[in-house]
Amino acid sequence: MANILVTGGAGFIGSNFVHYLLDNTSHRVVVLDKMTYAANEKSLEGSDPERFELVRGDIADRDIVNSLVKDADAVVHYAAESHNDNSLSDPSPFIHTNLVGTFTLLEAVRAYNTRYHHISTDEVFGDLELDDPAKFTETTPYNPSSPYSSTKAGSDLLVRAWVRSFGIDATISNCSNNYGPYQHIEKFIPRQITNVLSGITPKLYGEGLNVRDWIHASDHSSAVHTILEKGAIGETYLIGANGEENNITVLRTILRLMGQPEDAFEHVVDRPGHDLRYAIDGSRLREELGWTPQFTNFEAGLADTIQWYTDHRNWWEPLKAEVEAKYAKAGQ
Ligand code: NAD
Ligand code: DAU
Repeated sequence: MANILVTGGAGFIGSNFVHYLLDNTSHRVVVLDKMTYAANEKSLEGSDPERFELVRGDIADRDIVNSLVKDADAVVHYAAESHNDNSLSDPSPFIHTNLVGTFTLLEAVRAYNTRYHHISTDEVFGDLELDDPAKFTETTPYNPSSPYSSTKAGSDLLVRAWVRSFGIDATISNCSNNYGPYQHIEKFIPRQITNVLSGITPKLYGEGLNVRDWIHASDHSSAVHTILEKGAIGETYLIGANGEENNITVLRTILRLMGQPEDAFEHVVDRPGHDLRYAIDGSRLREELGWTPQFTNFEAGLADTIQWYTDHRNWWEPLKAEVEAKYAKAGQ
């Protein structure tokens, strides 16, 4: 049994990973989370108190980070400001958490010689043309577009520098768009599901032709666990499940699965600088580490996700009015 420190474990993907570890390993899990607007303590309900602890704190706080890293066998770093639209209205928390926070963790794992896995995104590579046969690979040059993705790119580069200059035991993964339970309703899929459940017209940015490469959060968790156990130190792995869809198709599928007419949505103001297409070539992870995704039917995964939000109104309903009021101000 090992002690795993999971930063950002009260957010969407972090909480999915905590449940994955508690269900599939005998590890003890400590979550360090600042409990920002994006965190939800309810996402961690049911975690065995013998093997789980939630510590409230900032990853940029050196004292708290050092005190937790000292006792950890490994750190898996999910904590971030994660939403592109927010980074356009106020980039400053993105600089603090994604850059200064990551720096603080890197200094701690260097001091205590602790295994570190860094969670990142495919957005660091920028975007692809719709008709480009190419996908992102581990060697695609970085070309981020938004304040969010540029701070994630910067954090990845800090990790690479700490590996090369200080020899820390780190791996990096860049994953595509996640969906599944516990995702904040500011994000595309849960926003539209909860719009339908609330009697609000779903909102599509622009023409909706932008493509995202969807993966279930549970498959992201199993991939990260595989890299933590078997990944080569200093290496980067791309995580994806061949789930490319454009936004209008995803929205129409959600509407159909929820018994609504497929055109029951409205077009709203597009995101400035909106990345056109993301696509992951995940063959390295599959071929070298033997990982495979379980959720290969996107429509079935979406149906499960719709069911989860339908069954967990108490998880998201208190947030809905505030999220929609913020979007309304931006004409979205
Ligand atoms: P999220 O916004 O749902 O959760 C982020 C969590 O980090 C929250 O619990 C928040 O309270 C915590 N946090 C924020 N600032 C903090 C700080 N200074 N100190 C401690 N905790 C802090 O995000 P998510 O969608 O779960 O993303 C998690 C990670 O995965 C991020 O690093 C993101 O870049 C990466 N990622 C996300 C996706 C996706 O589709 N959502 C895809 C690839 C990679
Ligand atoms: O690719 C990985 C990234 O995926 C992660 O790094 C980010 O943390 C995560 O938020 C996500 O970024 P996106 O910007 O792709 O996700 P978002 O859910 O915000 O939007 C998905 C697509 O849907 C995008 O093209 C914008 C569009 N959209 C979004 C919202 C909220 C709409 O059309 N309508 C909406 O209401």
